[in-house]
Amino acid sequence: MKKTLIFTFGLLISVSCLAQIPAYKDKNLSVNLRVKDLLSRMTVEEKVGQLNQVNGGVLTGPTVANDPGAAGKMNLLRQGKVGSFLNVVGTEQTLAVQKEAINNTRLGIPLLFAFDVIHGYKTVFPIPLAEACSWDLAGAQNTAAIAAKEASSAGLHWTFAPMMDVSREPRWGRVMEGSGEDPYLQARFAEARVTGFQGDLSDNEHVMACVKHFAAYGAVEAGKEYNTVDLSRYALWNYYMPSYKAAVKAGAATVMNSFNILDGVPASGNGYLVNDVLKKKWGFDGFVVSDWASFGEMIAHGYSANETEAAKQAIMAGSDMDMESQVFNKTLVNTVNEGDVPLARLDEAVERILRMKFKLGLFDDPYKYHDAEREKRTLLAPEHIKVARDAASSSMVLLKNEILPLKKELKNILVLGHLSESQDDVLDFWKGQGDHKNTVTILEGIKAKYPNAKVSFVKTCTRDGEFIKGSEKEIKSLAKKADVIIATIGLYGDLAGEARALGNLNPPAGQMEMLAAAKATKTPMVVLVQAGRPLILTDVVKEYGTILYTWIGGSQHGNGVADILAGDVNPSAKTVMSFPASLGQVPVYYNHYNSGRPHSDGQEGPDHFWVSRYRDIPNEPLFPFGYGLSYSTFVYSDLKLSKTEINKNETVTVEVKVTNTSKIDGIEIVQLYIRDLVAQPIRPVKELKDFKRIMIKAGETAVVNFELPAVKLGFYDENGDDLLQKGAFKVFVGTNSKEVLSADLELK
Ligand code: BGC
Repeated sequence: MKKTLIFTFGLLISVSCLAQIPAYKDKNLSVNLRVKDLLSRMTVEEKVGQLNQVNGGVLTGPTVANDPGAAGKMNLLRQGKVGSFLNVVGTEQTLAVQKEAINNTRLGIPLLFAFDVIHGYKTVFPIPLAEACSWDLAGAQNTAAIAAKEASSAGLHWTFAPMMDVSREPRWGRVMEGSGEDPYLQARFAEARVTGFQGDLSDNEHVMACVKHFAAYGAVEAGKEYNTVDLSRYALWNYYMPSYKAAVKAGAATVMNSFNILDGVPASGNGYLVNDVLKKKWGFDGFVVSDWASFGEMIAHGYSANETEAAKQAIMAGSDMDMESQVFNKTLVNTVNEGDVPLARLDEAVERILRMKFKLGLFDDPYKYHDAEREKRTLLAPEHIKVARDAASSSMVLLKNEILPLKKELKNILVLGHLSESQDDVLDFWKGQGDHKNTVTILEGIKAKYPNAKVSFVKTCTRDGEFIKGSEKEIKSLAKKADVIIATIGLYGDLAGEARALGNLNPPAGQMEMLAAAKATKTPMVVLVQAGRPLILTDVVKEYGTILYTWIGGSQHGNGVADILAGDVNPSAKTVMSFPASLGQVPVYYNHYNSGRPHSDGQEGPDHFWVSRYRDIPNEPLFPFGYGLSYSTFVYSDLKLSKTEINKNETVTVEVKVTNTSKIDGIEIVQLYIRDLVAQPIRPVKELKDFKRIMIKAGETAVVNFELPAVKLGFYDENGDDLLQKGAFKVFVGTNSKEVLSADLELK
């Protein structure tokens, strides 16, 4: 068999030679043969070059004519020492740089251009955490596809998304990039986004996805960026791994190491994670890129003595490409030549990267992603803006409601707060190429929605939330004539994202003063909260009757808000992170274990002293996972299972009736949870296993069915192998993780 392959390979190479083109340039040959042929022509230096990813920026053109940094990077490229650039964007730049790679390097190997397209490229969609609150998988697939369409039109082949880090840590600035605290939901969004970004990668309208950050970055201690992770393997497999696994199974082309340690070993040099789990156990056939400089940072971790050792540890653990630390570029040629790193391992890493370049079709048409005309007509296309508007309104969570929707014939509206009018703050750190001037603020959204009303605005607070003295007077006089006050509190946009950990999650004090001044006028009032993470709203909830959590909605934030306020969109989103009642509770999440001494809020007296509780704050979050209101009201009844006992090959049908008892059509997200009552190891008090997002017309009852196969009752052991244990289960269906109906099920 092997001989035949070698013979075929030899034959094909010579056939191609006869035709005078090297076999790797011959479209008619298989990718494998082309990769092998190219590899056989490469020097060790050129091979190491393919593993080197460099932060580009602007590399060519008049603005960098005398920039030694840019010139140095271009020289590196010409020597065959760059396999990929990140942060080179736009057709003009990417085309010019790709031409250098094709025409002025020895083998003409095309480059990969990568960029963080996290929630849109030029058209910016809601932050991923917000989008996940829509529970709309098709919607998320679509926004990822549009983001890919725009990014690819601007010369990019690769996005560093989706981030699939489950997290229970609102202090961590990066929760905005993920899909919340639940492994099941995170996994479904992983599949949707990978599919949306990549398609089948054969055309020029998709980009490679990158599953990050592998692994368990969402578990950083105390929510502090770049911090330690210390986890049991059991928690790793059951909470953190399912989403990465789902993304890999969905065909993600690349995976990124995380910055954290696991079992005392930095993820970049962690052979258990990369070699054993990702490549062997899951059969991942793409390539693994470091996080920014994370190979070199193994020295600061105290894991590597120097750059040579760091590079060796990274590549031997299975990591393939070095983003920006340059340790491969500086040391790997020597270590390979000295036999310290086997050539076979270097070859394997190079093959993985080349295979992707072939798969993208770059060897056959290296310029297929660089078409200025296409870029022009694709970016901010009207149909993309329309999707951004719908995505914004379907991601906003109505937490409390006394007065919405507002009447259409409002005459006078008072809008308060810096965040209501700030274009800067509807975008965050990960805004891609999103431009503030293409955004719609809340004030603009309201003005457009109520063209006949007088809309006045008082800034009241600074960007940091400090109260602007004297604002009370203005508020008082304007509020007299206003039908409604709309006041925005929260955090400015750039406080969401990487390196934005926070130790205080309360809205700024000045914003609370603003709300108090508005409340004193007795004019009806809506509070909008804008932030990239759940804030602590205990005081706000106590005082104010109508609260809409808008997150950070992207380009169309203001229109999304206005659509909900006016009732043109009936809110349907449900939070995918629990809202803490107090910072002391963090981390607080729905799928916790019961403990040996469980306690429920409200249980008092001597029997409830030596139990798992705080003496000064509640156990329960302010709003639980899965919570969110609608202008419709839904009543759940008649939960039925098709059988009360199943064996491991069977499926039970779970049926529930959901009635829309209101006068308005609405979307309800019906959630199915289970609890495995007795298990070894123990299981959480609730686990999401399925959900349905359905429109129910006013006054109608929907009969909702879930197919629950026995395998969904299973979980993972500490090695990531499947466990399915017989015994008693509870099945819950409800409108959030707390308010549920329940039924009993036995697994035989
Ligand atoms: C982040 C990654 C990101 C990379 C490239 C890192 O600092 O952790 O998520 O993809 O930079 O910008």
